[in-house]
Amino acid sequence: MISIFNTVRNIVTGVGCFEKLGGYAAGFGKKCLIVSGRSAMKELGYIDMAEKQLNDVGISTCVLLGIGHDPDIADIEAGRDLFNDKGCDMVLGIGGGSAIDAAKAIAKFAACNKPVKDYFDSGELPEGGFPVIAIPSTFGTGTEVTRVTVLMDRESKLKKGLRHASMLPVIALVDPMLGMKVPPKSVARSGLDAFTQAVESFFSKYSTDLTEALSFNAMVLLSDGLPKVMRDQEDIESRSNCANGSLMAGMAFSNSRLGIVHGMAHPLGARYGIEHGEVCGIILPRALRYNKAVCEKKYALISGFLGMDAADWVLERLREFDLPLNLKHLEIPESDFPGIAKEVLPSGSTEANPREVTEADVIALLKEMC
Ligand SMILES: [Fe+2]
Repeated sequence: MISIFNTVRNIVTGVGCFEKLGGYAAGFGKKCLIVSGRSAMKELGYIDMAEKQLNDVGISTCVLLGIGHDPDIADIEAGRDLFNDKGCDMVLGIGGGSAIDAAKAIAKFAACNKPVKDYFDSGELPEGGFPVIAIPSTFGTGTEVTRVTVLMDRESKLKKGLRHASMLPVIALVDPMLGMKVPPKSVARSGLDAFTQAVESFFSKYSTDLTEALSFNAMVLLSDGLPKVMRDQEDIESRSNCANGSLMAGMAFSNSRLGIVHGMAHPLGARYGIEHGEVCGIILPRALRYNKAVCEKKYALISGFLGMDAADWVLERLREFDLPLNLKHLEIPESDFPGIAKEVLPSGSTEANPREVTEADVIALLKEMC
């Protein structure tokens, strides 16, 4: 099979690499729009530090804060207007996955004059876009090394991943110290998202030798590191393992795609406001069992290094991290199930699942969890 593997040109990892941002960013532009979330990165001083780093190498800066969970089309339109009004030519996304997704979308759509909703609805993106530097503060989404941005249309309550190779950042800078102050619950959720992405990219019907090597190592690093970080946020070695595991899972799934967990997580997240990593963690054990029959060898490999059945291991982590084991608390009426299934089936993630997914399968999984 012929396959192509794309990833970010410059991947910088290691404790303290954030302090060298200026040196890596020099040459990519003259005016940078810094995009981040509501407050954490600003309060911890990282926005000021990023501005100083960039200013010191002759890049002027302006800042857009306030990107919440699941950036909305309106956030991207506002960011695009600011980018163009200020004459920017590069974007730095710093923070959680939502901030980086927003940065990627702003850089992509800044050069386009049609409403962002047009691209969201059609899913077809043009060539081009401005350079993006991505600095994650959580080990979770892996968006710093993917060609995907996940956006939300709050009007239609639709959440969708838009893909284009030109959305790969020019630099991914992964410093495991950045997320030291992230609350443990958020660490657990984003870590489970990363682990899910590693598993799904490993199982994906589009996985290759290259992506499987990354997925496998990502699962090993995350399964060892995440429980240790949950016990001690200052365990630097485990933080590094989790950050690198998340990065590798992102590199893998950007090339191999995902599976039914992500196919279901997006509509459930958009409809009922459940956090992405949390819903992934709940679906993952069921999806592992659902796929086991067609991936026996891979399932056994995962269970082998976990030292127990893979699905049971995930359920044990949900208990350990004090996260819900199912979706009962959402009280989703059964009458919603066919509508959810209609959104799950056409998803690119569902399509990449190794076992062919039917409407009846989705409804059966929902019944099991709800
Ligand atoms: Fe995810």
